[in-house]
Amino acid sequence: MSTANTTNPAGERETPGLPRHIAIILDGNGRWAKRRGLPRTAGHAAGAENFRKIATYCKNIGVEYLTVYAFSTENWKRPEDEVRTIMRLLGRYLHEAIDTMEKDHIRMKVLGDVQGLSPELQALVARTDEISERYEGFQANICLNYGGRSEIVQAARRYAAALAAGQAEELTEEVFGGYLYSAGIPDPDLLIRPGGEQRVSNFLLWQCAYAEFYFTDVLWPDFDTAELDKAIAAYQARDRRYGGVKNP
Ligand code: FPP
Repeated sequence: MSTANTTNPAGERETPGLPRHIAIILDGNGRWAKRRGLPRTAGHAAGAENFRKIATYCKNIGVEYLTVYAFSTENWKRPEDEVRTIMRLLGRYLHEAIDTMEKDHIRMKVLGDVQGLSPELQALVARTDEISERYEGFQANICLNYGGRSEIVQAARRYAAALAAGQAEELTEEVFGGYLYSAGIPDPDLLIRPGGEQRVSNFLLWQCAYAEFYFTDVLWPDFDTAELDKAIAAYQARDRRYGGVKNP
């Protein structure tokens, strides 16, 4: 896998090297479990463990940001016990991650409507935010109670409130980006969706304007580092033009 980046005279990356930011829609946990005769919740546990492995690998190879879609604003429609298990797994994950963050100086952010989470989860999110502020380097983002459209609407509301209070700059794409949950995080270069579906499912709608998409039938718990290498190699074979032309 090539990790070199090439830039054009404007300093923008053209021939993709290593993606700076990878986003992943975690899909296929339920089917992974069903194929093994296990409850769906066992698939989510395997999915959470896989996130740990993939995040470590991303950090080791030099990816700067990894953002995963763990729970959407629509996922509350799932059976109550499944939601409860996912929330419990997330709580346990965040709790354990706090130690790792301190030890390995990792930043971790939760992106989404945090107010809609339990007080226990909100406290863990506040703690991860506080630790993240102290470090630089690799950052993992977990999208939780997240929806791309609602993110844009809440950003518009916050901008309007700032404007009404006389505290808003003139509206540009950059200024608007500062009101999104992802403020300060560069846009994803590569969006991966395992699990066989080929749709974006309300994930990072604003941020993925120029992301390269990679779809695979491999289910998320089976999406290992070799699969990630394949996705990165596919990305490196793409020609990113950002709406321009190659050799005008
Ligand atoms: C999609 O698979 C997965 C989810 C909605 C939940 C993902 C949550 C976790 C992996 C738990 C914790 C996560 C982290 C990052 C610590 P699906 O259930 O839709 O699978 P299916 O399409 O096969 O039914």
